[in-house]
Amino acid sequence: MIDIHTHLLPGVDDGSSSIPQTIEQLTIMSQAGVKTVYLTPHFMRNLYHNAHDVITPVFNDLKQEVKGLDIELVLGCEFFIDNHAAETIQQEELTLGDSNYVLFESMLQQLPADIFEQTYQLQKAGYKLIMAHPEWYTDIIRKSELVEDFLVRDIYLQINAGSLMGMYGRNVQHTAFNLLEKGFVHFIASDNHGDQQECVQQIAYQLVSENFSDKIAEELFINNPARIATDDKIELINHWRLPAKPKSIWSIIKTFFTGYE
Ligand SMILES: [Fe+2]
Repeated sequence: MIDIHTHLLPGVDDGSSSIPQTIEQLTIMSQAGVKTVYLTPHFMRNLYHNAHDVITPVFNDLKQEVKGLDIELVLGCEFFIDNHAAETIQQEELTLGDSNYVLFESMLQQLPADIFEQTYQLQKAGYKLIMAHPEWYTDIIRKSELVEDFLVRDIYLQINAGSLMGMYGRNVQHTAFNLLEKGFVHFIASDNHGDQQECVQQIAYQLVSENFSDKIAEELFINNPARIATDDKIELINHWRLPAKPKSIWSIIKTFFTGYE
């Protein structure tokens, strides 16, 4: 497995705070079959200014420390998108490894009105975009079809393994499964902040295998993530898209009163 979203670069954001903590997490992941881990610290202007010259020495130190583990580390970033994203990403080399892929996040409470202007500017500069955990956004939880506005703009979607497991509540879990059923998901990653007791990638792989198929699990945890480094094509609309299930009376009533699907 390849995990494209983690906060395990020690001491630089709200993830792991020390090298031993990171080694503990990487050991759990390695033993469960994770072969490559992208370290994607937050870059949020005025909060986590994780510029290239700040994170590279930390990354090099960590690589020395984990030499004994059978795991490859790649430097990346989870970029909080704004109107100056393209210049900053170019200047600070904040893509996933040497690829042109950018993992981005935005305001969870409400997507900004100019979100597609922001993504367009990045695409115009030559970057390919992956939206981190769409299932966490209030707007998308309320109306999951909103992600189609991202897909038609060639933006890939990465959901969190923990979302499928119910780690962030039932609404997030429901949304994650809903996106998966529709074939809208391209990657599943751990978003490990240094505090996972077990390898969520392994558990979620099992869940996807059982609820969908081995082939789909392989695509989301292994093949698509591998295509980032080699720049191969990733299908935007996946072949397993299922017809929508008819809604029960109960779910129609629930949506009417709560506003949630
Ligand atoms: Fe993250």
